[in-house]
Amino acid sequence: MSIKGYKAGVKEYRETYWVPSYTPKETDLLACFKISPQKGVSREEAAAAVAAESSTGTWTTVWTDLLTDLEHYKGRAYHIEEVPGEDCFYAFIAYPIDLFEEGSVVNVFTSLIGNVFDLKTLCRLCLEDVYFPLSYVMTCGGPPNGIQIERDKMNKYGRSLLGCTIKPKLGLSAKNYGRAVYECLRGGFDFTKDDENVNSQPVMRWRHRFEFVMAAIQKAEAETGERKGHYLNVTAPTPEEMYKRAEFAKELGASIIMHNYLTGGLCANTGLANWCRENGLLLHVHRTLHAVIDCNSHHGIHFRVLAKILRLSGGDHLHIGTVVKQLENSRGVILGLVDLLRENLIKKEREHGIMFDQNWGTMPGVFPVVSGNIHVWHIPTLVSILGDDAILQFSGGTLGHPWGNAAGAAANRVALEACIEARNQSADLEKEGKDILTNAAQHSPELKKAMETWVSQQVVSNV
Ligand code: 6PG
Ligand code: MG
Repeated sequence: MSIKGYKAGVKEYRETYWVPSYTPKETDLLACFKISPQKGVSREEAAAAVAAESSTGTWTTVWTDLLTDLEHYKGRAYHIEEVPGEDCFYAFIAYPIDLFEEGSVVNVFTSLIGNVFDLKTLCRLCLEDVYFPLSYVMTCGGPPNGIQIERDKMNKYGRSLLGCTIKPKLGLSAKNYGRAVYECLRGGFDFTKDDENVNSQPVMRWRHRFEFVMAAIQKAEAETGERKGHYLNVTAPTPEEMYKRAEFAKELGASIIMHNYLTGGLCANTGLANWCRENGLLLHVHRTLHAVIDCNSHHGIHFRVLAKILRLSGGDHLHIGTVVKQLENSRGVILGLVDLLRENLIKKEREHGIMFDQNWGTMPGVFPVVSGNIHVWHIPTLVSILGDDAILQFSGGTLGHPWGNAAGAAANRVALEACIEARNQSADLEKEGKDILTNAAQHSPELKKAMETWVSQQVVSNV
């Protein structure tokens, strides 16, 4: 006996989910996918398949469709566009906002990309950008503190902040680790940090590391009169263990802790960000695992989406790569990414890969963190591109200084302050960077030695 009005069978997705006449509502969540369909699959069918699978559709009709207000709840592929010079296309999809749980990047992430990469009609798929309506942004906690509060808590203004990941990443005892931290901080750094995979290994259990590091911070603060911090990595096997480590860091007087939001998970990260907001700690977030997701520009998720997800989930810092080494592909894409982290209203800018305006309302901004084979010669370009609200992290470029960690830190601090002073006097840092550093080195043997040590790695100005 058939059910009245129900027609069993497989329908083309585009009959229901390709709606070119649709005009997105202000409250819709919008996604832009870059799609390479399988041979013989039309663009409309491929776009509709993504819209269906990430909202209310499945491979066959189901009679419970008759019990569902599909016209309200379905995702709609509403626009298709060429990708200049490539054999794929952009598909724009609109989703009614009540498809998603409020305040849950876990749910948005699962809904948008959880199943669509399995679709047989697609050859490759990349989530390029997502527009979060302000009504949804306001349901998310966001950064626990934000850029301005962090500057006020750390009493640091008018320049980028300096950090260093302690290396070798594994093998140091907690005592020697603390000594390395102390040397970097007394030499002039604002922060040091645990590497992404420094958690609680037999050679250095988390509690011992926390204790030796905090002793190093207290000693360096007393000597320098400056606020110092170390990103204590609380990423842990379970949420309970993560909170236990965070509580102990707070008990020791730590100003900042760290979490790996992709390997640690978005649920844990959002919970930890809420804990940091409640307990007054800064939260440094590492993006380890991102390259599995974003390294193929035709398949996966663009890092700008992962960055937006982090700003909603919560974090005061987020790694964005080396910047100076990525300039080859596009300075504009990097600037667009940095704007998405720091600014409150970002306008659509196709050149920068920003497919939608994004209004973050009053949600605080996130410090972009630059790291990866950088050293003093890169500082003029980094300051020129990123301005002051960025964190520059030099590991090898500090710990590799012939005279030790403190000299390495001093070299970077002098170089940074010389660039800031020159910039404030309207110097063109990318053209005059070498002269600025050379002049500063006349008064800083540590900087002079650092420049000689890495002279072969001088950055070729990208102007
Ligand atoms: C981090 C980064 C960092 C990265 C850089 C640092 O955890 O902060 O993952 O560890 O690996 O390479 O080291 P260098 O400055 O020596 O490149
Ligand atoms: Mg690392």
